[in-house]
Amino acid sequence: MATMETLEKLLQEHREAARLMDLLEEQARSGENGDLALICDIMHYMTHYPDLFHHRREDAVLRALALKRPDATPWLGRVEREHAQLADAGRALMELLRSPGLDDQGRRQICRQALDYTGLLRAHMSYEERELFPAARAWLDAPDWEEIDRALPCPPDPLSGMGASPRYQVLEKQYRSRLAWLIDGDRAD
Ligand SMILES: [Fe+2]
Ligand SMILES: [Fe+2]
Repeated sequence: MATMETLEKLLQEHREAARLMDLLEEQARSGENGDLALICDIMHYMTHYPDLFHHRREDAVLRALALKRPDATPWLGRVEREHAQLADAGRALMELLRSPGLDDQGRRQICRQALDYTGLLRAHMSYEERELFPAARAWLDAPDWEEIDRALPCPPDPLSGMGASPRYQVLEKQYRSRLAWLIDGDRAD
């Protein structure tokens, strides 16, 4: 994959994650009426695809950048720490979602943690788009990108396209209808 393709793919994944965060926020703000199964599907996806493949590819970009720009280590460290923080927050939310016999208090706790998660991920993606991606575009060359792609192949996204998994059928439908609604909204403007 060429340089711009790799960065474009990371950016595309941010756009998709942002839409999933809209869905998650919508459910979390519905409080006791929120769809826990949908929240669970979103968090299952986040902890099984972006955490494992999107963030790891970015970690490889960070490592390559750190070799070229030792002065950038402090802010590169922030991105890496946030990846760990997001993985922990996602795992904690999944554990809560799986706890048996959830009462109203448990449901409210899930909604609170889901909202925290959306805030954390949105701030993280915006920081990467402001700092990490422009630095990577400026400092990494073709051999660096080839090395990143070789070390970390990117499997098909299980939410959509050729790699779509039956596990996310319901989520995919919600995601698509949200997308159609957004596109219609754009047309109406
Ligand atoms: Fe990231
Ligand atoms: Fe990212």
